[in-house]
Amino acid sequence: MTVERKFPNTRLRRLRKNLNLIDLVSETNLTSKDLIQPIFIKENFNEKEQIQSMPGVFRFGIDQALTEIEEILSSGINAIAVFPVIEATKKDDKGSEALNQNNFINTSINKIKQEFPELILIADVALDPYTDHGHDGILVNNEVDNDKTNEVLVNQSLLLADAGADIVAPSDMMDGRIGLIRQAFEKENFKDTILLSYAAKFNSKFYGPFREAVKSASSLGNSSKSTYQMNTSNINESLHEVSLDIREGADIVMVKPAMPYLDIIQMVKNEFKVPTFAYQVSGEFSMLKNAIDLGWLDKGGMLESLISIKRSGADAILSYAAKDISKEINKI
Ligand code: PBG
Repeated sequence: MTVERKFPNTRLRRLRKNLNLIDLVSETNLTSKDLIQPIFIKENFNEKEQIQSMPGVFRFGIDQALTEIEEILSSGINAIAVFPVIEATKKDDKGSEALNQNNFINTSINKIKQEFPELILIADVALDPYTDHGHDGILVNNEVDNDKTNEVLVNQSLLLADAGADIVAPSDMMDGRIGLIRQAFEKENFKDTILLSYAAKFNSKFYGPFREAVKSASSLGNSSKSTYQMNTSNINESLHEVSLDIREGADIVMVKPAMPYLDIIQMVKNEFKVPTFAYQVSGEFSMLKNAIDLGWLDKGGMLESLISIKRSGADAILSYAAKDISKEINKI
């Protein structure tokens, strides 16, 4: 049936008369439960320090992180993603420290989960915090070797699961790693550990501030991640990536970055209809936050950016602004 829509029977402004009406017919609603706060924790550190390229974002010592997490939870958020900043002296070409059962991230996860058992904790899997060359994997003849890297990622994942991570999130873009990690989880009795795959992760310039935050930028130098992260021009390939990861056993898939890739988020959600997350990455955040701090952009621009990501189809969003936006939504 085609409905004839004609003025003045139809006056769309009737439903825009006031804020309560606008809210009543709102198609997209962002809540605290849709938000995940990434947090940087730094080894052998007992303070919090500002990350230069990410205004209002800090590296925390583990004790300071526990206080911060309490604040995140009381803002209404239930989930965090932890990223370690490890001692430079512990980095080597193989990222060996990642496989130390008592390394900083594993002991930190343990502490955090002991203090906050209900908190959903997401742990990143990749070698870049641990390698002296800044790549996400093991180099052979100066190239990241897929299969050798997978062996290490499987073991890294098992340690993170054992330390208490609820969700293990491979962010490295090696082929086949989801299947291998899932197999190992089934075998080693981690059958309920959730796999969140960074399935469509693009080789983006928007990761710049993050690399400063975890101090991998200087190690990486001019080298790029273009042999494993996706070409920013590709749509079909992202669907291909996602379909493989679902088949291999991913429970949740992620698109990253978010705002420059809303078309991908929408297509992934429509095509596969599985839980789909989006990561508003460091460069997206810093761009908005800096403009807001300078008074060039209204503060509401941050919430608008997150609503646009939710509207595109994301079920949950990682954002450095999560805590502040959550407070804003809940009027805390
Ligand atoms: C590590 C990793 C990166 C991000 C999350 N995990 C950086 C990269 O791939 O170089 C980026 C997050 C951000 O920019 O906020 N593999």
